[in-house]
Amino acid sequence: MGRKVYLDNAATTFVSGEVLQEMLPCFNAIYGNSNSLHSFGRDASAIVDRARDRIAHAINAEKSNEIYFTSGGTEADNWAIKGIAHAYKSKGKHIITSSIEHHAVLDACKQLESEGFEVTYLPVDKFGLVNLADVIHAIREDTILISIMAVNNEVGTIQNIKAIAKTAHDYNIIFHTDAVQAIGAFKIDVQDMEIDAMSMSAHKIYGPKGVGALYLKNGVMIENLLNGGNQERGKRGGTVNVPAVAGFGKAVEIACRDISINQQKLKAIRDYFIKSINEKIEYVQINGHPHQKIAGTVNMSFEMAEGESLLMLLDLDGIAVSTASACMSNALEPSHVLRAMGLSDELAQSAIRFSFGKNLSKSDIDYVVEMLAKNVSRLRSISALTKAGRK
Ligand SMILES: Cc1ncc(COP(=O)(O)O)c(C=O)c1O
Repeated sequence: MGRKVYLDNAATTFVSGEVLQEMLPCFNAIYGNSNSLHSFGRDASAIVDRARDRIAHAINAEKSNEIYFTSGGTEADNWAIKGIAHAYKSKGKHIITSSIEHHAVLDACKQLESEGFEVTYLPVDKFGLVNLADVIHAIREDTILISIMAVNNEVGTIQNIKAIAKTAHDYNIIFHTDAVQAIGAFKIDVQDMEIDAMSMSAHKIYGPKGVGALYLKNGVMIENLLNGGNQERGKRGGTVNVPAVAGFGKAVEIACRDISINQQKLKAIRDYFIKSINEKIEYVQINGHPHQKIAGTVNMSFEMAEGESLLMLLDLDGIAVSTASACMSNALEPSHVLRAMGLSDELAQSAIRFSFGKNLSKSDIDYVVEMLAKNVSRLRSISALTKAGRK
């Protein structure tokens, strides 16, 4: 088999050894239903409690019972947006979010619009940043919820969450953030940052797929997500996926413990990658904020080379990247994020997201840059834009 390099860690990561070790006993040795009253149940329940404590501690939640396990980030986002909106609808029916949110937030908002809620989708600047003045300007008497993502999944821009949350509270509005791409990238302290609700997911931080959580500050109202058993304080019924939850707890603990060492490594890899590209490939534009961004994600437009075609050629060379977020990568539309940042359709369609992981080496990067240079020049040689003498 030829060489393989995975640069799509923002789509998902492998499960780390430590996380897997935490999960394995929960598949057979400790198999009780965490809701059962006997010792088998209590053993399972202790594992779920430990995971909840670990996550609460990592984000500085005041109490562990503010963590509600879900099936992932999508479920946490949907629950937060719709559940909070429904719980506060007697107070007002206006929501503020940004135009670059993940579709789990955007489509939940669309559904609320069909139910009679009104949603303001804030613009972003050319770096993908929401402007605080725009947030303040959009606030109305009937605004009940503001939801702004902590880190954008396509370009890696970090939003000024603390300032926006504080503003929301000045106006007595609930603040939710999608922190799926932020956990492990920088310290999140939900109390200091005044976050009322926050979505998280395990599979972006070397945990298993299909598990995540919603942090919900005690006292914030939310409609129940699933009626059934009394799991998750009666708000989300259903037998808890104990192995997944155990793995998630461990993954969050490790990600938050190792922030500075991981970010240092990722930054070194990213800087080396960008430097090598600048040396070998012309007409490349980096999309996203020049410094207010996470180290693990780089989004680049290769002018006169179509992104999907580049992705497929790189795939033939064993290199995994993506054009937009994984869930939208089948859509032929240019990315809504890059469009909102003001990129032309042409530049948006020539964009590739590279997202780095823990175990990349410099030689992996050398290989990727070599293959990129080869494939970009191949695509440019057949591009109509090149022929038209644009460059
Ligand atoms: C910012 C953001 N929010 C939400 C999600 C959805 O998370 P999950 O895959 O756990 O449903 C993702 C993952 O693609 C994401 O990047």
